[in-house]
Amino acid sequence: MRALLARMTLDEKIGQLTMVTGSGTATGPQTAPVSLAEIRVGRAGSILNLWTPAAVREVQRIAVEESRLGIPLIVGFDVLHGHRTIFPVPLGEAASFDTALWEETAAAAAEEAASDGVSLTFAPMLDVTRDPRWGRICESPGEDAHVAARFAEAKVKGFQGSALASSRHVAATAKHLGAYGAVLAGRDYASADVSQRELEEVHLPAFASAVKAGVAAVMPSFIDIAGTPATASRPLLRGILRDRWNFQGVVISDYNAIAELITHGVAADLAEAATLALRAGVDIDMMAGAYSRGLPVALDRGLVAMADIDTAVLRVLTLKDDLGLFADPYRGLITASYSNGPRYRRLAKRAAASSMVLLKNSPAVLPLSQHGGPIAVVGPLAHAPADMLGPWAAAGRAEEGVSFLDGMRAAFPGRRILHQPAAGFDPATLVPALAREAGIVIFCAGETRNMSGEASSRGEPGLPMAQIQLAKNLLAANNPLVLVLCSGRPLILPPFLAEGAAAILAAWFPGSEAGTALGDVLSGGVEPGGRLPVSWPASIGQIPIYYSERRTGRPANSASHYSSKYLDIPAEPHFPFGHGLSYTAFRFDNLRTGRPVMAAGETLEVAVDASNIGDRNGGTIVMLFIQHQVASVARPVMELKRFQRIEAAPQEKLTVTFRLGSNDLQFPGADLEPVLENGRIDILVGQRAVESELLRAGIELTGGQNRLPAGSR
Ligand code: GLC
Repeated sequence: MRALLARMTLDEKIGQLTMVTGSGTATGPQTAPVSLAEIRVGRAGSILNLWTPAAVREVQRIAVEESRLGIPLIVGFDVLHGHRTIFPVPLGEAASFDTALWEETAAAAAEEAASDGVSLTFAPMLDVTRDPRWGRICESPGEDAHVAARFAEAKVKGFQGSALASSRHVAATAKHLGAYGAVLAGRDYASADVSQRELEEVHLPAFASAVKAGVAAVMPSFIDIAGTPATASRPLLRGILRDRWNFQGVVISDYNAIAELITHGVAADLAEAATLALRAGVDIDMMAGAYSRGLPVALDRGLVAMADIDTAVLRVLTLKDDLGLFADPYRGLITASYSNGPRYRRLAKRAAASSMVLLKNSPAVLPLSQHGGPIAVVGPLAHAPADMLGPWAAAGRAEEGVSFLDGMRAAFPGRRILHQPAAGFDPATLVPALAREAGIVIFCAGETRNMSGEASSRGEPGLPMAQIQLAKNLLAANNPLVLVLCSGRPLILPPFLAEGAAAILAAWFPGSEAGTALGDVLSGGVEPGGRLPVSWPASIGQIPIYYSERRTGRPANSASHYSSKYLDIPAEPHFPFGHGLSYTAFRFDNLRTGRPVMAAGETLEVAVDASNIGDRNGGTIVMLFIQHQVASVARPVMELKRFQRIEAAPQEKLTVTFRLGSNDLQFPGADLEPVLENGRIDILVGQRAVESELLRAGIELTGGQNRLPAGSR
């Protein structure tokens, strides 16, 4: 690659650092598709939002055959949860707590995307967040750093496979580094004023995991972190990403983010903006034109050196070489777009069912029988296949999706399915009439796809007023109501509905097989396999709310006035992290750690017995938390360190085992350096983050540092 670099003019070098947009879709403010003339003169090294064999072949041919050096383009696309076959949105997939599934869907998406000419996806999105007002919670793996780290590893392995040059894989991009999920008031693009400790403990682990898994690219977040925009942050992009984690890949700015350093007020013009980004280590400028227009001026002003540019260009050329683009610029492309293979449809159905979270089922109306009176399937999301795909649905096609209504009709062939026609009727009167006629009502409500995702923060993340009114009318029919929520976030439910609904199912945006999965779940063909990857608030006033809060000196205690609580709303979430019901039930007992003492460097074997005490096959997620009893800094009330899905037959008893290493017990000390401290650490095991429900076993850690060294000053 150095020989090629030596032949490049300044324009051609800057071209390699410039990403332009195709005409496939628009995902940012400027949307003018690149002209083929720009490609021909080597003014662009990569292009986003372009797919299908014909479109990619046309642009790639010009780059390879008509430009002076014939350097192939990287083709980037946001393939977050499927390319043509759409899987549940990432927050929904996270609810499956199934690392193998996370990897499988990424591999499927990579194969479909590569066959459409994509060589790099801007995924996985790894922004931990505790704020459902933020529209991008939908794209995230939820509130927990450990889940996000496991998600990162699985997705990078799925997208990239074992060889980037494989025509069935794509380069992955870990985004958005960092702290994007902590935006002020949940408002997209706002500042994130987080402590260095929160950055280290909450927002960085998933990216460290992605880098360790070999992620090819990283994208900084749009925002400023405590005053320094990530796009210009040397401490973040050089100090942590390159120096601490030894990341050798490519840093791609977010859309127009380099130019927006001017709007942030940290750059006076494009030359300064380009200087700040290049010095921070951003290699590719996505859609700002800052490198193309600003770097020549920055060179003239002596703000950057040619060596800085060369370093960035070499990283980009190396990635292209790793992708096999020099050997085969048309890698993966097949004559026609990838067919929506049945194998991937089955995977989409399994993923959707595994992500659905049964929040309530009392009285136990689910699963529904194949025999009985009519079932009313009503509400604005009942027959909405486009909305089922959710935001960032890539090349997904609504007409290839299965709506909730379609799925219910297929799942209950022996029962009449009542539904309000698409138009021509006043739902406020017709729908309740259907509810009176039916034996049970499936009310499909929540968010449409354009109410979620980027630039879609909601100050009141609940149900639209029209749906609340409809719910009142439906409940007035006095038939059991099953609330099926389609959404990209936890939705705050009005008490009358949360109490009035017999069952509540969080379906998220389930993807192409939404209806098939719903029919399977409501008929009992499969269980709703999901558990909440994010705390579900009871009220907006609780936000941000999450289980792993640090201890306080006066923890919430309804019996004590002087404790951390509210006068007018509960302190506990409506549904806690990890919550989710099976159609059966599990009992846990006999938690054991094998020994009461664990020395630094040793591995602890933890075991617990799990019994299916119900009358049908079923599964659940077993979660292992740790709880430092005393430490040199206030620790979270508990921290998830392991999770495992189990399945058992009725009355079957399993032994579930976990292995913990001492590095699982480390935390950033007062100086933010990793520390392993002697003392008692409790192991808590159960199904959700409710301390009183968890089995507890204590161990004494030795061989680490003492909290209070003798004679400390
Ligand atoms: C968007 C998003 C980013 C996405 C990029 C390209 O603004 O912030 O997640 O990958 O632009 O579409």
